[in-house]
Amino acid sequence: MDSTAADVTAVRGPLVSFTGDPFLTSREDAFVHESDGLLICENGVITGCGDYSALRDRLPAGVEPTHYPGHVISAGFVDTHIHYVQTEIIAAFGSQLIDWLNHYTFVEEQRFSDADYARRIASSFCDELLRNGTTTALTFCAVYPASVDALFEEASARRMRMAAGKVLMDRNAPDALLDTARSGYEDSKALLERWHGTGRNLYAITPRFAPTSTPAQLEAAGTLRQEHPEALMHTHVSENTGEISWVRSLFPERRGYLDVYDHYGLLGPGAVLAHGVHLTGRERGRCAETDTAIAHCPTSNLFLGSGLFHLHDAKDPRRPMRVGLGTDIGAGTSFSLLATMNEAYKVAELSNYPLDSVKAFFLATLGGAQAMGIDDKVGSLAPGHEADFVVLDPRATPLLAERTSRAGDIEELLFVLAVMGDDRTVRATYVDGALAHDRDAAASAA
Ligand code: GUN
Ligand code: ZN
Repeated sequence: MDSTAADVTAVRGPLVSFTGDPFLTSREDAFVHESDGLLICENGVITGCGDYSALRDRLPAGVEPTHYPGHVISAGFVDTHIHYVQTEIIAAFGSQLIDWLNHYTFVEEQRFSDADYARRIASSFCDELLRNGTTTALTFCAVYPASVDALFEEASARRMRMAAGKVLMDRNAPDALLDTARSGYEDSKALLERWHGTGRNLYAITPRFAPTSTPAQLEAAGTLRQEHPEALMHTHVSENTGEISWVRSLFPERRGYLDVYDHYGLLGPGAVLAHGVHLTGRERGRCAETDTAIAHCPTSNLFLGSGLFHLHDAKDPRRPMRVGLGTDIGAGTSFSLLATMNEAYKVAELSNYPLDSVKAFFLATLGGAQAMGIDDKVGSLAPGHEADFVVLDPRATPLLAERTSRAGDIEELLFVLAVMGDDRTVRATYVDGALAHDRDAAASAA
């Protein structure tokens, strides 16, 4: 098909992207930086990416790239763990995990039985993701199927690549939030068949965590996963020491927390487990050998006092795990993957492991896409990949401008953006090849 100006988007400016995992290969093999780059997108797909002067002749006649000099263009951020139904309870004071669930979360999630409320929050949630440069998220919904429809409808309207699922819980929560092993299976199956692969949507089978599902429900989730291996699987694991003891008492016949999911066939490629703060060495090995991923959620782990994730162990080149970053809103405290990189850096420092900026940006982009098993689609700026990207502004605030003006190279610039950046740093977000958020236009419209 001939390209017409209408289907083409082109942007020019400094580009960063990944061709490999910088935890496992040399910087040169993993990281790409074009100081004056050009990205050409046609019909939502990247068709050209590289040095501006080498690629400019490929621009279709009449297409003038949008120029972002002095900015940084990266693949859109991938949030591998977030709860849209907790958007309204960020910053809930005073509790660790189980009390926080009972006092705040289970109360708020009941409000999603109202489909109008679900639609309103789903809409502001998607806007907030885009304001923060996040173009793909793996998202918990509430127990109610309509809460899933609401999110996929809002994501579809914005053409985002969204992964989500109905939470499964049939015990240890208020009655209004419980399904049954059978209804949870049937509702999930219907939602999966309705949404998975519709537009850019992906379905994730979503047992909340082992304590809120009976063995019968976990078995049904495993059956559904077997029937639909193309879907993702999304849950929590080993976040909090009290939670781990509870799982041991509920499943005494299992070797440990991870083994509960393993037993029911819930691990494997496309399975993303949030937190994994207290995984044992054996459990990390099992994740690595099954290609089960962990969503590292540092702002949440600090906020709930859950503990410190051992990134250096998770990415041990002898048995590396797939790891992405998650905001874990509402236990997490920011929608920004930049703010999340900042906290990941600090958590790693507490284990005497300096997380450099190239690795941090990898986790927030291609690493997250690998964790979700969609790295053939999103997570890097490469021909054939979907055209989701973010434009970062090193002069977004006076202090950031001062500090970034002294950055000696791209790695230092990325580090300062990760440590000091937030939603103000996101100049623009493009989804499916089209501008989906323009910070300055939004500010002047407000
Ligand atoms: N474990 C089970 N449910 C949740 C939740 O909603 N948030 C977090 N952080 N951990 C959980
Ligand atoms: Zn969570």
